[in-house]
Amino acid sequence: MKPDDTICYCYNVSLRKLSNYARRECPRHPSEMTQCLDAGTGCGWCIPFLQKLVTDPDAFSGSDLTPEQYEQQRRDYIRSGQPRNKF
Ligand code: FES
Repeated sequence: MKPDDTICYCYNVSLRKLSNYARRECPRHPSEMTQCLDAGTGCGWCIPFLQKLVTDPDAFSGSDLTPEQYEQQRRDYIRSGQPRNKF
């Protein structure tokens, strides 16, 4: 993924914004990532990604996951009706 790719589709928050937030604020709990433009407070899909960014702000820089794959996985998550991801 690239820095300008979206991580939180519900609130249109990019990887760059979230990585910078994690570096700058060093959240003590992953749920504090929601203070970055409300990321994670919608459908919950991005919560596992936010949790990883807290421990490693560079976790997804240059990963093989494409934005299209990421978006498709989110669509599948929403369609599945599974319980919402939680912090
Ligand atoms: S994609 Fe982040 S809360 Fe829905």
